[in-house]
Amino acid sequence: MEGKTIAHSRAVMSQIVLPSQANPAGNVHGGEIMKMMDNTAYVVAARHARTNIVTARVDELQFHTPIYVGALVTCRGELVYVGRTSMEVFVTVEAEYLQQEKPPEIALTAYFTMVALDDNGVPCPVPPLILTTGEEEERYNMGRQRYLRYKSSQRKQENAEK
Ligand SMILES: CC(C)(COP(=O)(O)OP(=O)(O)OC[C@H]1O[C@@H](n2cnc3c(N)ncnc32)[C@H](O)[C@@H]1OP(=O)(O)O)[C@@H](O)C(=O)NCCC(=O)NCCS
Repeated sequence: MEGKTIAHSRAVMSQIVLPSQANPAGNVHGGEIMKMMDNTAYVVAARHARTNIVTARVDELQFHTPIYVGALVTCRGELVYVGRTSMEVFVTVEAEYLQQEKPPEIALTAYFTMVALDDNGVPCPVPPLILTTGEEEERYNMGRQRYLRYKSSQRKQENAEK
């Protein structure tokens, strides 16, 4: 299968957050933002694999700063690592308050593991990643470590169940 670059599947999705997505004090619910992040990771993975995609795991989800009603929330997603059928997507969330002359702030970050499924709902191979910069390679190696950690924990669990 031919490889694809990280740039090929990069995705950006924005929306203004509304009062119905927040608590009475105006803080946007974490779940609302997590849903946007999941959608962004879905778009990235589907662009890379061109198959049905499901979310298998979310790692290192961090809420760095609160987001308030009225913010323009922008999710940016890009591939970090791909295995055989799984893809790790790093998603960042920026909040921008349009009436303030201030640059957007990074509010959340997380790593989503997405799995490509064939027409029968079975995990299927995805194209390899073509890395084009040293930074992409560094992040890829870190993604590979998280992937191998998961594989090793799975093996331990399977052995314990035998
Ligand atoms: C994700 C899912 C398809 C994996 O199925 P499975 O039978 O465990 O398949 P496999 O063991 O072959 O795993 C497939 C790939 O996913 C990875 N994977 C599966 N579960 C994972 C987890 N919890 N964390 C990280 N990676 C995971 C495996 O490492 C493997 O990657 P690789 O092919 O790149 O090596 C299955 O667990 C599932 O359907 N989960 C529910 C998904 C869902 O409903 N999400 C929410 C709605 S979108």
